Amino acid sequence: MVTDQPAARPANPRFSSGPCAKNPAFSLDKLADAPLGRSHRAAVGKEKLLAAIEGTREILGIPADYRIGIVPASDTGAVEMAMWSMLGARGVEMLAWESFGAGWVTDVAKQLKLDAVVKTADYGQLPDLASVDFANDVVFTWNGTTSGVRVPNGDWIAADREGLTICDATSAAFAMDLPWDKLDVTTFSWQKVLGGEAAHGMLILSPRAVERLESYTPAWPLPKIFRLTKGGKLIEGIFKGETINTPSMLAVEDYLVALDWARSVGGLEGLIARADANAQAVFDFCDTHDWIANLADNPATRSNTSVCVKFTDDRIKDGAAFAKAVAKRLEAEGVAHDIGAYRDAPAGLRIWCGGTVETADVQALLPWLDWAFNAEIAAQ
Ligand SMILES: Cc1ncc(COP(=O)(O)O)c(C=O)c1O
Repeated sequence: MVTDQPAARPANPRFSSGPCAKNPAFSLDKLADAPLGRSHRAAVGKEKLLAAIEGTREILGIPADYRIGIVPASDTGAVEMAMWSMLGARGVEMLAWESFGAGWVTDVAKQLKLDAVVKTADYGQLPDLASVDFANDVVFTWNGTTSGVRVPNGDWIAADREGLTICDATSAAFAMDLPWDKLDVTTFSWQKVLGGEAAHGMLILSPRAVERLESYTPAWPLPKIFRLTKGGKLIEGIFKGETINTPSMLAVEDYLVALDWARSVGGLEGLIARADANAQAVFDFCDTHDWIANLADNPATRSNTSVCVKFTDDRIKDGAAFAKAVAKRLEAEGVAHDIGAYRDAPAGLRIWCGGTVETADVQALLPWLDWAFNAEIAAQ
């Protein structure tokens, strides 16, 4: 039992699951080259937007024939514009195992009013991926940010599918391998794994997704910020940096700085290794302490970004109050900000382990978990 406070604190206590920690080399003066006060349609603005698109392609290894667009309203905007623009052409299957996936189910069932096949699983588990029918369009989240459960790989996705796959990869992109040949629509936001600024979403389309956009017109109206086609043709400019409406050039500059940092740590491979090392430190801690466990039941599905843990000690009287109190102690000590479990998730903690977090900081946090846990057991 640890009662004394650990000697060392994390140098950076930011373990939020979004907006996530800025990269360790970040400082505000790195944004000095932002073309502020200039039109995003001027050459300087367009160059920056195109560099953001092509930098994304380079680091994530996105095929040359996939379109990459910068769109409004962060990841939510990207997912919703895809669903509103493409669904309804054939059957729809929705997979959800935590709150964000559940939000997409609500969109499809209650707003688009589509009669979708809905497959859900409790926090900690995945739905039966083997039962998915890829004659349907399939909407899913690569990494469930609020349960810390990810799909283990893309092997369950049919290579010869007739439907489209629409994948919310916001807490996976830049931390996990994404098999582009299995993904027709992929989305993420800048504020997640690269620690960028919230505002814009990234929408990545396979040639089959473009074919759907050009051959299908949904029955419902589309607001201007969702419109990807004009006269039945893709608006190609969107995928060259001619955004639908005005982007924040400060956020764009910040994303370019984040991409540069990503290159400096070895690109995607380096980023995955950093997230893996961070997550492994938490996994090892759970393995060696019998009062804490990963929320993910199956080790193959454990997230390496949004690592969710639960307290399993019999002495705990009120699980939700206990977890909140532990998070509060850690916050008060300045060793961990924003690590309480998501509001809809089971009681516990969520420790962001994406690549902008330093492994030394995760390692420095773990003895504090021990301290806060024991302090709270004694206090309750
Ligand atoms: C899986 C998932 N989808 C969607 C969102 C919403 O993202 P945004 O606020 O960037 O639109 C989040 C945010 O945490 C998320 O984790």
